[in-house]
Amino acid sequence: MKPLVLVLNGPNLNMLGTREPGQYGRETLADLAQRCAETAQAHGLEIEFRQTNHEGELIDWIHAARGRCDAIVINPGAWTHTSVAIRDALVASELPVIEVHLSNVHKREPFRHLSFVSSIAVGVICGLGSQGYRMALNHFAEMLREHAT
Ligand code: DQA
Repeated sequence: MKPLVLVLNGPNLNMLGTREPGQYGRETLADLAQRCAETAQAHGLEIEFRQTNHEGELIDWIHAARGRCDAIVINPGAWTHTSVAIRDALVASELPVIEVHLSNVHKREPFRHLSFVSSIAVGVICGLGSQGYRMALNHFAEMLREHAT
């Protein structure tokens, strides 16, 4: 059975393509999902790619991943900077997590420099656009292959 990685996206990321293209590029969420699916297939991973504008829904998905998925790639969007609840849910999932941001949050407003997720993540990738998601998937593919052998 292929390892299963949950790829989660937080609020406003459904607006990709039209939302602040200078910051986030012209790729839509569907384009991003497609690129992730291609990367996953190339690396023998199964992925579930999801987006929500509702914090509780994201938390429910993280809870449900425990024992069902092998890893989580998450772009929590603005909740990165506000949500202890999402951090706690990720810890409770007992899964390895990579935090991804399309933009380089450290080059932006000071309120984006704080992340409640970074200190519990395996790694953080920001500023590389959609490539960051693919790098995260590559990492998990390698890591999960090593675990399987
Ligand atoms: C973001 C950065 C966040 O600060 C912002 O609120 C987002 C997107 C990114 O991918 O660069 O919604 O997570």
